[in-house]
Parts: sequence; C-alpha cells; structure tokens
Amino acid sequence: METVNLPENGVLFCWKSPSNIALIKYWGKKGNQVPANASLSMTLSEAYTITQLRARNNKKGAGPEVTFRFEGALNNEFGVRIESFIKSVMPWFSFPKDVLLEIESGNNFPHSAGIASSASSMSALSLCLCSLENWFTGGSDETSDFFRKASFISRIGSGSACRSVYGKMAVWGGHQAVDGSHDEYAVPTSFDLHPVFDDLLDTVLIVDPGKKKVSSSIGHNLMKDHAFAEARYHQANANLTSLLLALKQGDWNAFALIVENEALSLHAMMMTSIPGYLLMHPNTLSIIERITEYRKQTGARVCYTLDAGPNIHLLYPKSAENEAGILIKELKNYCYKEYIIEDSMGKGPEKLKCR
Ligand code: PMV
Repeated sequence: METVNLPENGVLFCWKSPSNIALIKYWGKKGNQVPANASLSMTLSEAYTITQLRARNNKKGAGPEVTFRFEGALNNEFGVRIESFIKSVMPWFSFPKDVLLEIESGNNFPHSAGIASSASSMSALSLCLCSLENWFTGGSDETSDFFRKASFISRIGSGSACRSVYGKMAVWGGHQAVDGSHDEYAVPTSFDLHPVFDDLLDTVLIVDPGKKKVSSSIGHNLMKDHAFAEARYHQANANLTSLLLALKQGDWNAFALIVENEALSLHAMMMTSIPGYLLMHPNTLSIIERITEYRKQTGARVCYTLDAGPNIHLLYPKSAENEAGILIKELKNYCYKEYIIEDSMGKGPEKLKCR
C-alpha cells in the first residue's frame, strides 16, 4: 500500500466552473472522446457548478474511493459514476492512488434548464483533481499547463466540458486555422474578439425544461453509420474557418449565418439518423421563425443557436439589448411558464476559498 502524506483533516480544493454553449457543434466521435470535427464554444457566466473536493488518506488501501454529495444530499448514483470517471483518469495523475475523495457539488442553475450541466460539473471536478495533483507536486494552479491538463481530464468525463476551462471562447479539436488546437484538449481563442463580440449576451428561452428523450451519447453514436457524416464534418470544419474570420472582423451577419447553420445542421443530423428523432418542439420552430422575421423587419443584431434539446439560445451584442428585449418579451409566450435565463459570455473558471 502506498503511504499518503495527507494531514489528518485532509486537503481541500474548491473550483467554480461555468457551462458553455457551442457555436460550432461537436457531434460525432472518432474514438474515445475524440471529436470527429473541431468545435468552438462561448463560455457562459451565470450557469456554473461549484465543486469542493477533500482528499484524505484511504486507510483501506483500495485505490481512490469517492463519496459524493450533490446540492447537500448524498447521491450514490452520481457517486458511482464519478468514482468510475476518477478511476479512469488515474493514469494521468501521479498522486497516490489510496485516497478518499469527499466531493460536494452544486449548480446555480436548475437541472431542468436545458443548460449542459455536464460541462460545468466535469470541468469543476477536473480542476479540483488537478489542484490535488499540484498539492503533491508543488505545481501552480495558474499556468497554461494546469488549464490544459484540466481540459484534457474534463474531456474524458464529457467532451464539451473541456472547453469550459477557458473564458470567452475556446476551440476543441485539431483545426488548421487554430494554432495549437488539439483533439485531446481545448485551447482558448488566441486573438482579440472584435468589440461586436466582446460583450455577447445569451438569453436562454426554455421551451421545455424536461429531460431530453435521446441522450447526447446515443446521438454521437448514431453518427457512426450516418449517411451525411463526412459531409457534416467537412461543413463544421469549414464553418469554423469562416466563424473565426467573422469574430476577428466583427462581421455580425456572417456570424449569424454560420451559427444558425450549425444549430440547424446539428438537428438535421438527429432527424436523419437511423432511427431519426426530433428534439425540437413546435414552439422551438415558432421562436426560430419569429427571430428570423424580427431580424428581417428591424435589422436587429440577434441570432439563435440550439443545444441538443428544444431550448433556444438567443445571442446578441450588448448594443442590441433594447431590440432584443422587445423580442424576448414576445418570445416568452412560447416558453414553459415564460421561463428564461439571462446569461452572457463569461471569464471562465475561478478557484474559490474553501469553506
Ligand atoms: O459533450 P457531450 O457528449 O455532452 O456532447 C455535446 C454535444 C453538443 O452539446 C450538442 C454540442 C457541443 O459541441 O457542445
């Protein structure tokens, strides 16, 4: 049995990490959590997970053992999944295997909001694990290597989580237009966003707060024999090249065209899988039609994207807040109990003082 030199009360780490919304979508894998195409996302600000990890000696000497509390209550179902994730990433850590990990986690957004909680929760947990590693090795939690490793570990838990490790926007997946981009971790966008995109707002219009009918893992799998898979990967990579240009040049119209094309292509892949399925609801379509119409009528800088679900993310720069506000008031009528969440582009994870 390895001897772990942890203090009696253990050591404690705490990270707050946000969710993200993909503008260029990852849909389909090449292998173990390796994306079939590169993706780009905007990190959110208001939708985040706070995770606290206490590591103690595991006197039983049985490798890492996990207890998991979610929003204050012991949750064995999540605990089993998290223990299996932690065991799967142990080969990348040098800290002793015989640790007892007491994890407490909570989201500041409701489960049912249709916001990817796996991205915020997996990235928060991975950051805690990387901090634990540094406690043993004496490394710093502020270097780019630290965040790269946290991104790499997050990816193993949930692909899209690897992009949440960075503020503003991040790219995951090797792409010729992004220096240093990689299939195994995300990288932050290395250029300054044009001011038009530097204060992007995202109002999430909740059409249905329920659990989606088909999980993302099933959806990724259905891409394996998909008739349009290769065309889709090609389209996503080309869209990423064009989006990067739009973000640098401040071209809102190009941005809107690409982002909406990505949203509809993602859902087109679901519809044309075998078996095909629909995650959009009639009200999702009504909202899309109304956004398009409103933009045509007023020239307002608003556009939409969708995650793998029926809810709409309405994107607009701060300068278009008033026009967007008028539209949102109307769109609330299509939402579940007029439920919306106001979010914006965020700065990325934050290390917190532990309680
Ligand atoms: O990371 P996963 O396995 O939950 O898949 C995410 C897929 C999308 O959210 C639809 C797109 C993306 O790039 O985040």
